[in-house]
Amino acid sequence: MITQRKDDHVRLAVEQQRQHDGRNQFDDVSFLHHALAGLDREDVSLVTTFAGISWQVPLYINAMTGGSEKTGVINRDLAIAARETGVPIASGSMSAYFKDPDCADTFRVLREENPGGFVIANVNATASVDRARRAVDLIRADALQIHVNTVQETVMPEGDRSFASWVPGIERIAAGVEVPVIVKEVGSGLSRETVHLLAELGVHAADLGGRGGTDFGRIENGRRERADYAYLAGWGQSTAACLLDTQDAPIPVLASGGVRDPLDVARALALGASGVGASGTFLRTLLDGGVAALIARISTWLDQLAALLTLLGVRTPAVLTHRDLLIRGELRDFCVDRGIDTRPFARRSGGLDVPHEMTGNRR
Ligand code: FNR
Repeated sequence: MITQRKDDHVRLAVEQQRQHDGRNQFDDVSFLHHALAGLDREDVSLVTTFAGISWQVPLYINAMTGGSEKTGVINRDLAIAARETGVPIASGSMSAYFKDPDCADTFRVLREENPGGFVIANVNATASVDRARRAVDLIRADALQIHVNTVQETVMPEGDRSFASWVPGIERIAAGVEVPVIVKEVGSGLSRETVHLLAELGVHAADLGGRGGTDFGRIENGRRERADYAYLAGWGQSTAACLLDTQDAPIPVLASGGVRDPLDVARALALGASGVGASGTFLRTLLDGGVAALIARISTWLDQLAALLTLLGVRTPAVLTHRDLLIRGELRDFCVDRGIDTRPFARRSGGLDVPHEMTGNRR
């Protein structure tokens, strides 16, 4: 059952990528242009630091798969792409390994192909501390993700129907493992209130996992005989909305869900993300064009992200939070309802940062 489910997820997620109209709420975010803000590319670094973690680049391959023969091959290719481009990578849920230890190799390959990379293990909120530790040990993980996915479980025919134990479960795991713990949604988003609760539970970072890309409600509905949960499609907040909602987050936030291109990466960083993850779009590239195509795509994203930082005049991703942003459309409506003032975002750069000797003539 579980191996079939893993293969179904890959098939339905890629089908969804092909059908997607390409629009989401990142389209409501734009940078105010300052024609003389740019700096020299050689002065730009992509390094990001959060929760005691330092990444060479602020982009990662987010959790997807493992647990079946086919998905083991996908994990091998994702790990090769991560190794060749230097991006961190997260495993898919490792529950399958606890149900059937024979599939351990389909996860272990993430570390074997990428011995020096930053690799993240992934469990659900009901995993015991012992299992969470074993998941970390299996791939010598540098961090652990706990996924929270109530919408997916609700629509999944064989899904969980009891969620009350998730809060104490997360607290136990966060206290019981040696690596930083990241709690992530899978496409419906984390609210401000949820991120504050996660901080109280001892979680080190939150991956907002918002709406706008892979929709697991729809994927699971496609696995139901009568597809009778179609109305839950699109449930939750977009990733851009989540970022705006968590401006005062007490722990670092990561952004994922519907990240389509390097501009979305820059937008998410400018809205406060310490790192930005993508899943479905990378999976589609891998299955359509093979590992070489995925390596080329990730390399292009990193190159163009550095180019965007250069034109925006920021030396590191963190400085993007001091660049002027315009927030429009439905995203702005969301902000009004949640009491978030969007106007300061359009005036936060406080002028152009031009070197002194160049302004001498005007004095
Ligand atoms: C996922 N995702 C996921 N997340 C998780 O924490 N554990 C998991 O096992 C999986 N499995 C999975 C399988 C497949 C095929 C896809 C495409 C995705 C969710 C993923 O990490 C991410 O949160 C969502 O896909 C939203 O990001 P994108 O796809 O819009 O970039």
